[in-house]
Amino acid sequence: MSKKFYITTAIDYANGSPHLGHAYEKVLTDIVARFRRLMGDEVKFVTGLDEHGQKVQMAAEKQGVPPIEICNSLAKEFQGLCERLSISNDDYIRTTETRHKNVVQDILQKLFDKGEIYKADYNGFYSVRQEQFVTEKEKVDGKWPEIYGEVVQVTESNYFFKLAQYQDWLIETIQSNESMIYPRFRSADVMQFLKKEPLNDLCISRPKERLEWGIELPFDSNFVTYVWFDALTNYITAAGYGTDEFEKNWPADYHVIGKDILVPPHAIYWPIMLKALDIELPKSFLVHGWWLSSGAKMSKSTGEVVNPLDLIEQFGTDAFRYFVTREMNVGQDSEFSIELFMSRYNSDLANDLGNLVSRLLNMGGRYTEGKVPAASVEEEPEKALKDLWSEVEVELMPLFEGFQFHKALDRIFTFVSGINKYAETRAPWKLAKSEDPADQAKLHTSLAYMAEALRLAVVMLTPVMPEISEKIRGLVGAPSFDRLDGQLVWGNTLEGCTLGEKAILFPRPERKA
Ligand code: ME8
Ligand code: MG
Repeated sequence: MSKKFYITTAIDYANGSPHLGHAYEKVLTDIVARFRRLMGDEVKFVTGLDEHGQKVQMAAEKQGVPPIEICNSLAKEFQGLCERLSISNDDYIRTTETRHKNVVQDILQKLFDKGEIYKADYNGFYSVRQEQFVTEKEKVDGKWPEIYGEVVQVTESNYFFKLAQYQDWLIETIQSNESMIYPRFRSADVMQFLKKEPLNDLCISRPKERLEWGIELPFDSNFVTYVWFDALTNYITAAGYGTDEFEKNWPADYHVIGKDILVPPHAIYWPIMLKALDIELPKSFLVHGWWLSSGAKMSKSTGEVVNPLDLIEQFGTDAFRYFVTREMNVGQDSEFSIELFMSRYNSDLANDLGNLVSRLLNMGGRYTEGKVPAASVEEEPEKALKDLWSEVEVELMPLFEGFQFHKALDRIFTFVSGINKYAETRAPWKLAKSEDPADQAKLHTSLAYMAEALRLAVVMLTPVMPEISEKIRGLVGAPSFDRLDGQLVWGNTLEGCTLGEKAILFPRPERKA
């Protein structure tokens, strides 16, 4: 039995509509999943919704509906977004599902029985907005930072998970496993947090009087578990924890998350939870940065959001996927602006790629009866184009494997420009005016080269722009493929194939009034 390549996104909070940040994370993960499938891996790709907690309960009270109704409607919205984004997830997990509640209760009971969870009184400060206890240490200049919103003092009994005893083990584990966190520099954030001081044990419960909308503790029905014990566990629920499926999927190859939830939840709580349960750790975390709007993180709480559906509506799914992938250096932050979006759309997609395709189809229709002709000439322009491809081709695999998708796209579009330059140099429209057999041979060669080069250019665009790539393959007569094997080799493979009708791949968007 071979292990699947198991990749997950964070599960989104059911406390507002999806925004650009959510859409981006799904696209990023989808690209890795599609790339791995092309490489021959059997992939399991899971995304989902994080449905419990104070905010959902409060929203439900406000609207006078049961919390599950809010969750159902948001689940529809988030799943609708996945569909519109062509996300190829194999499963969608909701934390209100029975399969998940069972796993959460199962692991809580196991940890309780092992003595890893204990009850204690807690006096302290609580941030309503962040749904977490905070300590004086977190004050800046004597004040609670803005992000905490209202901070109130509370005293209550709660259950705690013993974190501190695993601190040295975790330091050692992360230090000895350099590839665990990508990009590497984020390991430093984790180390800094871990080495600062002893870890506090983690409060994992809320009394039901305060929070009902959660999964009940199996050993004390007056409490529900809250936030991370519920949310992080989704990764093993979806992997089939407790069933035969589990060993096919686990450990996760990548948890894809934003930088705000690396420390402490994913890099501290999650490995320790798993260690305490004798479950293998995930192999790695792929940590992306934020989409910013006027310099600030786009988020539901601040309201500065871009609705990805608006952009998809106007420009199409693949244009959206292209933009976010081209602009974001995975790990860094990136500022969103509609001007930048338009400029990428017009120059890269509509002009460079779109016009190249329609030029080829147009000339094929006029000069070669809609067929890809034979290539019989190999002179300087042909050599230059092939050389350019060789240069680009060797870079693509390492860039994809290293999550440098923005650079990979840059290289692919350098090649697309190269094809355009080749067409300018050969000027088939001039050659077509000559009856000289040598010119006819060059004319045929140039169309054959353009077709083959386009086929090659879209091979590695496939994980990023699945629909457009497939469309272009159809238009130049190239077959679909499931595996990369041999696809990147220049081979004049299309001779005799039928070219499609002239098509506009990237129409000029209609300006909204
Ligand atoms: O954190 N740019 O949910 P969430 C890029 N339920 N990514 C962003 C972003 C932005 N402006 N804003 C949010 C949660 N994200 C928890 C996760 S996982 C077991 C539980 C990313 O809806 C964010 O970093 O606040 C996270 O990875 C994901 O969107 C969901 O964020
Ligand atoms: Mg968040």
